[in-house]
Amino acid sequence: MSLRQDKKVYPYLFNNEWKESTTGETVEIMSPDDGAVVGAVPAMSQDEVDQAVKSASDVQENWEATEGHERSELLHRWAEELEKMTDEIGEKIHLEVGKTLSAAKSEVKRTAQLIRHTAEEGLRTHGSFIQGDAFPGASKATKAMVQKVPHGVVLAISPFNYPVNLAASKIAPALITGNTVVFKPATQGAISGLLMVEALVKAGLPKGVLNVVTGRGSVIGDFVVTHPSIDMITFTGGTGTGQHIAKQASMIPVVLELGGKDPAIVLEDADLEKTAKEIVGGALSYSGQRCTAIKRVMVMNSVADELVAKIKDKVETLKVGKSSENADITPMIDQKSADFVVSLIDDAKEKGATVVTEGIRNENLLGATVLDNVTEDMELAWEEQFGPVIPIMRVENELEAIDLEKRNQYGLQASIFTKNFENAFTIADKLNVGTVQVNGKTSRGPDHFPFLGVKNSGQGVQGIGRSIDSMLRDKVLVLNL
Ligand code: NAP
Ligand code: G3H
Repeated sequence: MSLRQDKKVYPYLFNNEWKESTTGETVEIMSPDDGAVVGAVPAMSQDEVDQAVKSASDVQENWEATEGHERSELLHRWAEELEKMTDEIGEKIHLEVGKTLSAAKSEVKRTAQLIRHTAEEGLRTHGSFIQGDAFPGASKATKAMVQKVPHGVVLAISPFNYPVNLAASKIAPALITGNTVVFKPATQGAISGLLMVEALVKAGLPKGVLNVVTGRGSVIGDFVVTHPSIDMITFTGGTGTGQHIAKQASMIPVVLELGGKDPAIVLEDADLEKTAKEIVGGALSYSGQRCTAIKRVMVMNSVADELVAKIKDKVETLKVGKSSENADITPMIDQKSADFVVSLIDDAKEKGATVVTEGIRNENLLGATVLDNVTEDMELAWEEQFGPVIPIMRVENELEAIDLEKRNQYGLQASIFTKNFENAFTIADKLNVGTVQVNGKTSRGPDHFPFLGVKNSGQGVQGIGRSIDSMLRDKVLVLNL
């Protein structure tokens, strides 16, 4: 059958064949915009998931044995096919996860660029050669050849918010390094993921080198994560899910990119107009449903009134509506997520936060809310809202901001706004996060920069070069001459 034979139920990919599940069960995907059914994907059985992993395992040695430049050429063709499908995949991302059409298409284009860069960078991986005489008792006659070899079968699990980009950013580095892949897309976003895989099949993917497993993570997740033929896991998603996966997986490498509570620290000498613009864009694009969204602002008391006024002005010009209306603030992925955001707002208001501007709720559509005078006793000061809220915490000085950040359970990114670079570097040195942005919003790209979270924000490093590294291990051959 073909992927688009029946536009309602999209089949999964097994050994380059599009298949229906024998369970006959499916999971429906509804548009966040209006609840309309976008389509459905199979709820695969454990037996089908087992076969998907085994088939990826069976062909792994052959795939590893192919020449690196052939794998690189496959990725280049994939990028080309993906670009040709920009409109179709963009439309599906838009419907499935409620991104505006232009943002959805940009995601596809960004992904094609990421795949191309990976195809190039992957050609430059190499091992090393070490002589023994640097260690007492050994001699130059003992030499180590350190090769870089793939782990084997990589399980790639992606989140809903970048259903194509955050899937390809795992699959491309796995394939270029000779790993085979079992891809588990987020259910909301799975159709876009399947279309992205169709582009890979068109590009000439050999049978079994990538199989897709679909179905709720809560149902098939533990089975696939603990499958004995999975050799490495790369996951992006919520901290709770990531921690659960890390506990389930035993004795295999696990790379995790998880949640965040990225602060924007605003010093007295900041350019407040630019700062407000970066904060509003950083906090509210895609309605705050980005791991790297600015999720709390720590502003020096002396400039807080001015900054808050500028943020208010900018937020109040944002268009709230459906993603199909090209609005700035669009419906959240589901009701449950919207309920959670509202509970954080209510808790903060009850505990005395000042409402600067409050968005109206219409089911899962929440207008943007700005709350000032957020204090440490409020959940909003610490919890990842993953929604359209800007909490503002006023601080007396830089030390107070650093102290607040030190107690953050997350450590993805932080922004510092100041004209004094020396100050920025001093503060940056004290923040336990993966990345510090100076005078810019927190954000993942460019995609070849290392990207990582510490504390509850993750383990391991991504970004094209580092993702490639994470897909390889050392294998040492010692020559005793
Ligand atoms: P999620 O609910 O944790 O889901 C992520 C993926 O895990 C989905 O594919 C999900 O499948 C799957 N899953 C669920 N339970 C599983 C289990 N027991 N075993 C294996 N897989 C399982 O996250 P989300 O709601 O999609 O994404 C939002 C979160 O991701 C936010 O916290 C955000 O900060 C974080 N995020 C982090 C980054 C980063 O790079 N640091 C990037 C993007 C998002 P189903 O969809 O079928 O449930
Ligand atoms: O949601 C997490 C993404 O990795 C954020 O990527 O900063 O490019 O929006 P972004």
